[in-house]
Amino acid sequence: MRCLIWLILLPCLLASCSPAETAKQESITIPEGKLQDPAAIESGRLLFRRYCALCHGLSADGKGVRREGLSADPRNFHDPVWQEKTSPSEIFHTITDGLSQSSMPSFRALTEDERWNLVAYIESLGRAR
Ligand code: HEC
Repeated sequence: MRCLIWLILLPCLLASCSPAETAKQESITIPEGKLQDPAAIESGRLLFRRYCALCHGLSADGKGVRREGLSADPRNFHDPVWQEKTSPSEIFHTITDGLSQSSMPSFRALTEDERWNLVAYIESLGRAR
């Protein structure tokens, strides 16, 4: 009988996620061809200069003029070690949700397409080596 209860309960438990988790899963599919699209990368570069450069640096090297006093030093996005271990969906989630307990804000106000363009730009820095 106990087993039966678990058989019924377990899928429910697995399916129930916090609202944050649900938000994280909503856009897991990378739009087709986005990461290689030169227009997306260029659009991402311009968005980056407008919204991210203050902290992350104009060339995404982590040397933004406002970097002093942030929760952590913004990363150099050209760093091959970081590029190796991150993923497009992880970058997308960070941009969408921000990082809690840190100076990295949420950019949910940008359209999903704009956020993917930013991912395309950041990813392209790893290939430019
Ligand atoms: C107010 C300053 C600020 C702005 C503006 C900002 N960031 Fe950040 N970001 C940070 C900081 C600080 C961290 C490191 C957070 C930590 O680890 O505590 C971070 C972390 C990140 C990370 C995770 C990197 C890692 O170490 O894994 C990504 C990706 C990122 N930012 C992308 C962006 C993008 C794209 C934009 C623009 C749309 C942006 N950020 C705008 C401050 C900022």
